[in-house]
Order: sequence, then C-alpha cells, then structure tokens
Amino acid sequence: MKALEGIKILDFTHVQSGPTCTQLLGFFGADVIKVERPGVGDATRKQLVDVKGADSLYFTMLNHNKRSITLNTKTDSGKQVLEKLVKECDVMVENFAPGALDRMGFSWERIQELNPRVILASVKGFGPGPYEDCKVYENIAQCAGGSASTTGFRDGVPMVTGAQIGDSGTGLHLALGIVTALFQREKSGKGQKVLAPMQDGVLNLCRVKLRDQQRLKAGPLEEYSQFGEGHPFGDATPRAGNDSGGGQPGKILKCKGWETDPNAYTYFITQAAVWKNVCDVIGKPEWKEHEDFATPAARLPRLNEIFDAIEAWTMTQDKFDVMEICNPLNIPVGPILSMKEIAEEPSLRETGTIVEVDHPERGKYLTVGCPIKLSDSPVDVERSPLLGEHTEEVLTEVLGYSASDIESMRTDGAI
Ligand code: COA
Repeated sequence: MKALEGIKILDFTHVQSGPTCTQLLGFFGADVIKVERPGVGDATRKQLVDVKGADSLYFTMLNHNKRSITLNTKTDSGKQVLEKLVKECDVMVENFAPGALDRMGFSWERIQELNPRVILASVKGFGPGPYEDCKVYENIAQCAGGSASTTGFRDGVPMVTGAQIGDSGTGLHLALGIVTALFQREKSGKGQKVLAPMQDGVLNLCRVKLRDQQRLKAGPLEEYSQFGEGHPFGDATPRAGNDSGGGQPGKILKCKGWETDPNAYTYFITQAAVWKNVCDVIGKPEWKEHEDFATPAARLPRLNEIFDAIEAWTMTQDKFDVMEICNPLNIPVGPILSMKEIAEEPSLRETGTIVEVDHPERGKYLTVGCPIKLSDSPVDVERSPLLGEHTEEVLTEVLGYSASDIESMRTDGAI
C-alpha cells in the first residue's frame, strides 16, 4: 500500500518544475500519466544528450514512476482523449506558458464542467500582476524571487545558485498544494485550482532575506561580516557571501588540501552554546573569558578575526577530520561535498536517496530517489518511460478505447 495509491494524475507537464512535482506524486504511489506531443515529447528528452539516441539524463531523472502517452491535443480526436482523461483523473498538472491551456480549449471552466472533482494544478512564472503573461525559466525565477540579489559576495555581481529552487523548489510547493487540495476534496467533494508561481516559491525560500530587509530599519545587520569590515549598509538586503543566514555566525573555511582540491572546505558554525569548545579546538583558550570574545555580541564586530583563527586550524585538518573532531564536541560543522563524493556515498544508497536505475536505451545511471521518507509508503524508483510507451495501455485500460479506435487515432495523427 502506498500513500497515493488509487490517485490518477494527468501529467501535462514538461521541462523541470512540473515534472519534479508529478514525479514526487509517483514516488508516493499515484498513477502518473504523462501526456506528450507525438514524435516530439517533452523537450528535455533530447536536451543535454550524453548517450546518442537515448533519452537524456535531464529527462530520465525527472520522470520516474510515470506512464507516457502521446497525444496531439490540437486534433479533434486528441481533444476527445484529453477530455476523457480529465474526467478519469483526480488531478491535472501543467506548466505551460500562460494561456496555452485556454488556447487548447481547456479553460478552468471547461475542466470543471468535465469533472467538478478534478484539481487543476499549475506552475507559472509569476502570479497575477504585471508579469503574469511572461515565460519563465529557473534563473529568471531566482532573480525575480530575491535569491540572486542576496546571493554572492558584497563586491561581486548577483549570483544564481546551483540548487534549482525556481523549478524543483516550485514543483515541491505545487505537490504540497495538490495533496492539500486532495485532502480538502475529501470533505468538500469539489476540486479546485492550485497555482504555484515560481517567483512566490523562490521568495518563500528567501524568507529570511525579507526578514533582514525589515531589520535594516533598526540599524546595520551585525551578523553580516560586512558589519565587522566597516562597510555601510544600503537600503536593501545585501549579498552576504558565505555568512550564516541565522543568528549563529558561520563561514566556509579552507581545509587541508584546498590548494589543489576545489572542495577541500568545511562550513564552520560558531554556535554560542559551544563557544568554549571552539576556543579549545582552535588553540585559543584565552578567548573563553576575554571581554572581546566571550559573548556573542562582543564577537560580532570581530567575526573575520575569529574565522581567520579558526581557519588557521581547519587548514591543518582534512575536511572529514574536522567533522570527526568537532562532532563529539557538539560544534556544528559540515564538509563541502562534491557531487562525486555524494554519488559515491554508501549511506545515501542505503536510504534510497541515491538510486541506480537501469534504462533500456542508456543502461545504468544514478538518480535522486524520494527525499521525503514515509514509514508506511515505501518508494520503488521505476525508470522513466520511453516516449509513448504506454499509449495503447492507457487508451485501452484506463479510457476503454478499442483497437480500431486506436488505429484511427493513429491515422489522424492524434497519438
Ligand atoms: N499537443 C499539442 N500541442 C501541445 C501539446 C500536445 N500534447 N503539448 C504542448 N503543446 C503546445 C501548447 O499548447 C503550446 O501551444 P500554443 O503556444 O499554440 O498555445 C505549445 O505547445 C508550447 O507550449 P509552451 O508552454 O509555450 O512551451 P515553450 O517551450 O514555448 O515554453 C516555458 C516553455 C517553460 C518557458 C513555458 O512553458 C513556461 O513559461 N511555463 C511556465 C513556467 C515554468 O514552468 N517554467 C519552468 C520550466 S522548468
């Protein structure tokens, strides 16, 4: 038994944001039916190709646990099939450019007419307002949601982050909206529209930066290293480099081997509760009681001096040894792990967070399994479907079409 067993998802998503969402629902046991254009499919199938002729990792890693049917929804019979799918499914998920679904003839009103219990879940770049008609990709969302202006170094350009907070982050938000709407439907009996704009999703993840924006009115942000460096604050939350975003100062520091290994670094947090342990580890016992260092407030203007001293110690240690030494002393530290190290980490394989999948076109590859663990809903990661692999199966088993219906749809170019 899986959590979402029996729930049918009409997956009309493409690229990354929508597919991330429906893949999660698939991991939880929903029957996800991905609708793709005949002969073309989701554009990511053939983007960033590494194995000639095979679906790309971009596609395979975002479309596990789904069935694929091809359907040209701009033909009459294609539209009829889509109507049947809307009637049959619990949720329709899409992330087309604004207006595309309406142009296809599937407005919210029409969808409700077809199935009042269906939930229509959409990712768009922006919510209602001046930019609602814009097409949006990951980095635009990071820029418009406040992430880029607050990421990077004070004296550098705004930076986008490697974590796909605009696409995958919004997909996560949408998945929560969908299961919440399903829960409400239990009581109301009705479907509803769920909208997750990418700008809103990114801003939600940048909540602490809006916190800091408002704190600026009360004076400089003392936990930012620019405070100790004597650089005045402007009227907007600045970029904070690798400063910790919370109340416990932290920084990325060099470890042994940093000269040749780009990831020989550790994140080190000078948590107030264990300050004395930090002083002992770095060989500065005199700082425990010294008036310039003993309290968090006294330390704030001296963070660079403090982190320089800590780094003088971390540079003598391997990043994993820093963890071995600091963990028993309750000092929060974390090695900077490369993707290679993560891919090879046995404990992540054991928890199903990194999974090896076999694919008929490309052979074995690694993917990220379900990052949310439910004790009563085990996840079996299944390979992504080939384009249209389940067209006949879905048309017959789910929608009840006959072999001759399917043949004429093929002749019409509908599937
Ligand atoms: N049969 C027939 N037509 C289909 C179809 C099918 N199965 N599937 C898609 N189409 C059509 C759409 O109806 C649309 O046609 P229209 O422009 O005539 O209305 C067309 O294909 C293209 O869809 P669109 O979404 O505009 O794709 P795009 O490649 O031009 O834009 C995005 C891509 C991602 C920029 C855009 O979809 C978008 O902004 N999405 C919302 C935000 C988002 O999710 N962005 C992140 C992506 S990771």
